[in-house]
Amino acid sequence: MAQQILEKTAVPTPRVEAPTLVPAQQSTLAPAPELSVILPSFNERANIPVMVERLSRALDGIDWEVIIVDDNSPDGTAALARGLGAQDRRVRSIRRIGRRGLAGACVEGMLASSARYVAVMDADGQHDETLLAAMVAKLRQGDTDLVVASRYIDGTINTGFSAARAKASHWSTALTRTLLKVNLTDPMSGFFMLRRDVIDDLAPKLSTQGFKILLDIAATGRDTLRVTELPFVFGARLHGESKLDARVALDFGQLLLAKLTNDAISYRFVLFCLVGLTGIGAHMTALAALHGLGVPGFGLQQTIATMVAIAWNYVFNNAYTYRDQRLTGWAFVRGLIVFELVCSVGAISNVGVASLIYAGGPSWWIAGLGGAVMGAVWNYTVSAAVVWKAA
Ligand code: GDD
Ligand code: MN
Repeated sequence: MAQQILEKTAVPTPRVEAPTLVPAQQSTLAPAPELSVILPSFNERANIPVMVERLSRALDGIDWEVIIVDDNSPDGTAALARGLGAQDRRVRSIRRIGRRGLAGACVEGMLASSARYVAVMDADGQHDETLLAAMVAKLRQGDTDLVVASRYIDGTINTGFSAARAKASHWSTALTRTLLKVNLTDPMSGFFMLRRDVIDDLAPKLSTQGFKILLDIAATGRDTLRVTELPFVFGARLHGESKLDARVALDFGQLLLAKLTNDAISYRFVLFCLVGLTGIGAHMTALAALHGLGVPGFGLQQTIATMVAIAWNYVFNNAYTYRDQRLTGWAFVRGLIVFELVCSVGAISNVGVASLIYAGGPSWWIAGLGGAVMGAVWNYTVSAAVVWKAA
């Protein structure tokens, strides 16, 4: 079935005639459509033509466009999307370079729209596009700002979920409702539609990392947004595989932490500190090795071990803490040098602050902890600004 649809891609679009306008005016005055459907994509090449085909059928009678926001997928999704757009102006696309992340892609796609309404859905066919017309109808009534397609109303059966994933989803939903006071049956849904003007206010406060874009929107706008939920059945993917499985829990933890602490503690900072803790192990191992090799002088041994530990931290922060802005090639080398310098200053300020606290009287461990926290905050803040600049 999917294969059949795939074969008849890029069906020519019937254009609405505007008889009173001459062609030049027609092209400059064509207003934005009523609805933009944002399809975040990573390696969805085989699914995109099917999605466009399905959207044009489901949205017959509605003025719509689709915006495919692709993070430079290796399978060439972006080129394919642009090709479809060349034949059909309802198909727009954004190719993001050097960035990864579902939430950020959704925000960027929504901001690129001038439509009255924007929808977000998976690009893999898991979300029932026939619900879109009902969602538009709901928003047109004017008493709703956000329509959520929920997998958990009316005991809907979902075929797109493994048993473990279903359990995790239920559990995290309960947690969100209690902790974040977001009153949705399905705050993790990736399928929703909202008024475009709402996004301008919310966007600066939304996290660009992670997957839980709806939860973020609902939690950030919980005092102002009027929300309606509609049921749908979460289907199976057409082609390819899920990108989320391994990282869903991590992502959830991140958003929960950020929202609960009013953005005071970022998940990035927690990861940065965890990497720093493993750095202590790297430090001690290097020190033992240098000692064993008979490198002259403890001062020199300790200095080299410190540099090794900083390099270790750099590699792991670059791979995990900043995996969405990972540095490669020369940028990686440059980053390493800058990180070494930043953290050396961090180490000096750590000792300075600790000595100061110690001199003031409290116990050795309060002084030590104070110094370590000071060092960590310094390293984190400064490296975010000068090493991974886009943070
Ligand atoms: N641009 C971009 N960048 N798109 C991404 C990225 C990314 O880093 N990661 C995933 N996507 C795209 C996928 O290509 C897909 O179109 C959509 O985002 C959702 O990713 P899937 O890999 O299909 O996720 P899922 O089906 O396992 O998860 C679904 O359920 C979750 C709730 O449990 C999605 O609907 C999620 O949005 C939802 O939170
Ligand atoms: Mn999916």
